[in-house]
Amino acid sequence: MKPKLYITRELFDDIVAKLSEYYEVEVWDKYHHPPHDVLLSKAREADALVTLLTDRVDCNLLQNSPKLRIVAQYAVGFDNVDIECATRLGIYVTNTPDVISDTVAELTWALILAVTKRILESDAFVRRGEWRGTGTPWHPKMMLGAELKGKVLGIIGLGRIGTRVAKIGVLGFGMKVVYYDIVRYKEKEGILGVEYRSSLEDLLREADIVSLHVPLTPQTKHMINENTLRLMKKTAILVNTARGAVVDTNALVKALREGWIAGAGIDVFEGEPIPADHPLTQFKNVVLAPHVGSATFEGRYRMAQVVLENLVAFYEGRRPPTLVNEDVLKVRPPGFK
Ligand code: GLV
Ligand code: GLV
Repeated sequence: MKPKLYITRELFDDIVAKLSEYYEVEVWDKYHHPPHDVLLSKAREADALVTLLTDRVDCNLLQNSPKLRIVAQYAVGFDNVDIECATRLGIYVTNTPDVISDTVAELTWALILAVTKRILESDAFVRRGEWRGTGTPWHPKMMLGAELKGKVLGIIGLGRIGTRVAKIGVLGFGMKVVYYDIVRYKEKEGILGVEYRSSLEDLLREADIVSLHVPLTPQTKHMINENTLRLMKKTAILVNTARGAVVDTNALVKALREGWIAGAGIDVFEGEPIPADHPLTQFKNVVLAPHVGSATFEGRYRMAQVVLENLVAFYEGRRPPTLVNEDVLKVRPPGFK
C-alpha cells in the first residue's frame, strides 16, 4: 500500500503524476485554500502533506495526525508550521529555499524601480489623459523620481534573497550596499562589495532604500515600527517582500501619512488578502503587490520539483534535501517503515 499524500492546492500535473508513482495522492482542487477543519480531517488520515503558507499546521493538527511523517511546505517560509512541535513528534518538515531567490530578488527590484521611477503614477497619468491635459509633451519637473546610482541600499537580512538583491544593487545600479543581520558574513562582504552595519538603527539612518529579507520570527516581528521608521531618511523608501508582520502596518501608514519616509513597495501584509480600502491603498507613493514574490512560472515549477525531491527522498528512507528541522533525525529515521 502506498502512503497517503494530501496536497492542499493544485500543483503542476506532471509533478503530481510523478508523486503518484510513490504516493496515493489527493489534491484539494479549489482556488481557495482548504478550510482548517478540512485540513484537520485530511491530515488525520495522511502519511504526508504538501502545504502552503495559507495552511495553519499547528501543534493541534500535528498531534491529531497519528500517521503523519512529513510536511513538505511549498514555500521558502514556514512560519505557518509549528516546527518545534513537529520535531518533537518526529515529523519531518521541508521547504523550498534557493529555487525562488532570483525570482524574489527580481520582484524586489521591480518594486524599488516602480517606486523610485513612479511607474504606476506615470501610467495612470497617461491613461487618464492628464499628460495630454498639461498641453505640453515635456516639462523639466514632470514626474521627477530618484536616481539609484550612488545611493545607499540597506539590506536587512543577507541570506539567499538579500544577497541577490545586494548583488544587483552593486553591479547593476552602482549603489553602495550596507546590510544588517544577526550574523556577519565577512567572506560575502568581500565578494559582493557590501558593508556590515552592526546595528539596525545605523542602517536605517544611512539607507536611501531599505529592503527586508528576514524570515518572520518572534525577533523580527514588527522590527520596523514607529521607533525604527522615525530613524529613516525623509527621502528613503521601504520595500517589503519578506513577511507582512515584520512591519508594524499602523506605524507604516503613520510614517507615510506624516512624511517620515518618501514611499514604499509592499508585497506582503499583515492580514492578507488586504481589502481595497486598506489604508495603504491611499498613497500614490506606495506600490502594492498581492504576495507574488515567488510568482514566476520558473520559480513555482522549481518549487514543485523540490517538493517532489523531498517526498521521494523521504519515501526511499533518505534525508530530504531541504529539511528544515534537522533535529528530527534524532527522533525518527526518514521513511514510512
Ligand atoms: C512565499 O512567501 C514563500 O515563503 O515562499
Ligand atoms: C529627454 O527626453 C531629453 O531629451 O532630455
